[in-house]
Amino acid sequence: MPPEKIIIFDTTLRDGEQSPGASLSITEKLEIAQQLAVLGVDVIEAGFPVSSPAQFEATKVIAEEVSGPTIAGLARAHENDIQAAGNAIAPAKKKRIHTFIATSPIHMEHKLKKKPDEVLKMAIEAIKYAKTFTDDVEFSPEDACRSEMPFLIEICAAAIEAGATTLNIPDTVGYVLPYEYGQIIAQLKADVPGIDNCIISTHCHNDLGMAVANSLAGVRNGARQVECTVNGLGERAGNAALEEIVMAIRTRAGFFAGKDAKAPILNINTKEIYRTSQLVSRLTGFVIQPNKAIVGANAFAHEAGVHVDGILKKRSTYEIMTPESIGLGGSRMVLGRHTGRHGFADRCKQLGFKLTNEETEHAYERFLQIADKKKEVFDEDIAAIINDEIHVIVEKIYELQYLHVACGTGTLPTASVKIKTKDEVKQAAACGDGPVDAAYEAIREATGHSPELESYSIKAVTGGKEALGEATVRISEQGRTAIGRGISTDIIEASAKAYVDAINRMLSAKKKGEEPELKVQL
Ligand code: KIV
Ligand code: ZN
Repeated sequence: MPPEKIIIFDTTLRDGEQSPGASLSITEKLEIAQQLAVLGVDVIEAGFPVSSPAQFEATKVIAEEVSGPTIAGLARAHENDIQAAGNAIAPAKKKRIHTFIATSPIHMEHKLKKKPDEVLKMAIEAIKYAKTFTDDVEFSPEDACRSEMPFLIEICAAAIEAGATTLNIPDTVGYVLPYEYGQIIAQLKADVPGIDNCIISTHCHNDLGMAVANSLAGVRNGARQVECTVNGLGERAGNAALEEIVMAIRTRAGFFAGKDAKAPILNINTKEIYRTSQLVSRLTGFVIQPNKAIVGANAFAHEAGVHVDGILKKRSTYEIMTPESIGLGGSRMVLGRHTGRHGFADRCKQLGFKLTNEETEHAYERFLQIADKKKEVFDEDIAAIINDEIHVIVEKIYELQYLHVACGTGTLPTASVKIKTKDEVKQAAACGDGPVDAAYEAIREATGHSPELESYSIKAVTGGKEALGEATVRISEQGRTAIGRGISTDIIEASAKAYVDAINRMLSAKKKGEEPELKVQL
């Protein structure tokens, strides 16, 4: 590997998916993994196979179907975990076992109830056992940044001796600051025997908002793998955001250049960043804050007069990277009700959607309905239509056929719905605290399902008063969660569609026998 190559290790499907509420079905994980391969990540951590049958299956399916990146499975330093990870990643062409054990005094004493020499022995045995499944073994001393340096050096040296090919240094609780993290990496690089035959990796959590800065400090000090997640998804405040890491290294290549002053090599096709970010947001139901770096709706928006003036004169006055570089349409072609089938199909292709003729026809019909209400249809609207109509990977057990809502100041909000099933149309009416609540009550009545509504959000897909509204809901029932989305120019209709979509997803997962995910405490 050239010394300037930086490996992007994506853990959206493992550490990212550990975020409360972000559970994905196996099909959804596969869709994300396929997009991560298109994005060009080097390693996909597909799951924690021992933690549940669904995690095992998802890792295995990704190992079978996704080519390009190395597929990694996580395992504690236990034989069972390693066996499950080894079996799950077996079908992959390039496979890795990532095994870990905590090394900080607080974790060893209170969580593991083990002495350092027992931990050391377990780590060595785990790595040796993992080597019987694959040569590519990564070791993480969990909570490395709160570990005592002499012990950290000792366990890292022993891990390399036992056969670890990547040494990952997690800031598990997001505690350290960039200078400190950089120093830890530099000291390990200088003092761990055999480290030059091993890749040093960063794994930073964002509890103090330092995850990206810490990871980059690690790279500056010799780390050659960065573990990160799309949109910074992850437990608590999340992990280092992939898009920020990649664009920082790209934009400031000179700063990260190695001793020979060569720019770092990244395998990432940055033009796929925006699409990947949207996909992860859509499938997890985690809405991206507008001012989020790189992928937020305002990341490339210029409002202040003086900025707009500068941008018009020379873009680089206020833009350090271009929207095109992350895959945002530069031309912003606008379609309308007079756009023909061919023009529409062409635009879908340019936006990267590969649709069959039947799917194009279906999307076009929906496009015409929306173009009738909305004079201008933007790229974001087209993407929302396709995601809503075509990329529906669940059976539509229930379909919202009719919705009527009455509300206003001083009146009790009421809603009536007709819900179509395979054999009949069910009707119901209900009142609620507001129009959305009334619609949801009527849907519960008509479908006979009353899942708990865990979260609800609505956003405009584009600007303007005719913008499409996109609603996202998360529901739960008996430990199973599901996320639904709906779009419409009418926000109450979008909300109702999202609720019905979530119920369909929940029932579909149940039907397929997908177990509710148990979040295992690491
Ligand atoms: O944050 C952490 O320590 C982890 C390990 C399992 C690598 O996610
Ligand atoms: Zn982590």
